[in-house]
Amino acid sequence: MKYLLVIFLYTALSGLSFAGDSFITEGEYGEMLYNNPRGIGCIHCHGKRGEGALIAKYRQSGKSVYLKGPDIRNVSLSDLKKSLLKRHRIMPTYFLTDKEIRAIFHYLHQKER
Ligand code: HEC
Repeated sequence: MKYLLVIFLYTALSGLSFAGDSFITEGEYGEMLYNNPRGIGCIHCHGKRGEGALIAKYRQSGKSVYLKGPDIRNVSLSDLKKSLLKRHRIMPTYFLTDKEIRAIFHYLHQKER
């Protein structure tokens, strides 16, 4: 788990520089935020397009434990907001604006290009 945290922190710190004056669609903006949301990218735990992903696999008391980020493609906008504002056991807390959350929602509901 420690190793994973190091990867997460590295990803978070290596952040993306955002050219504010370039024209991008809301979906593209959402994709950027989804990958680099001023914190650990959603992509690491929820997969490339929100389909869910295996975060870690470890053994506990002789059994394999699979830690997974759930599929979030069908989460409503209000549930997405609620989820991002509350404290979770594994998922970090984010400080995203309404507009940013809407852009992520838009990305999750955009057809694959
Ligand atoms: C470190 C891994 C991790 C990261 C990064 C992460 N999540 Fe999560 N997320 C989880 C896990 C695990 C859950 C299941 C609840 C829990 O245990 O915290 C979850 C739950 C959720 C849920 C609720 C799903 C449901 O079915 O109710 C939403 C929505 C969500 N995450 C969206 C996001 C978004 C958007 C981002 C990026 C801004 C993000 N998550 C980043 C691990 C992560």
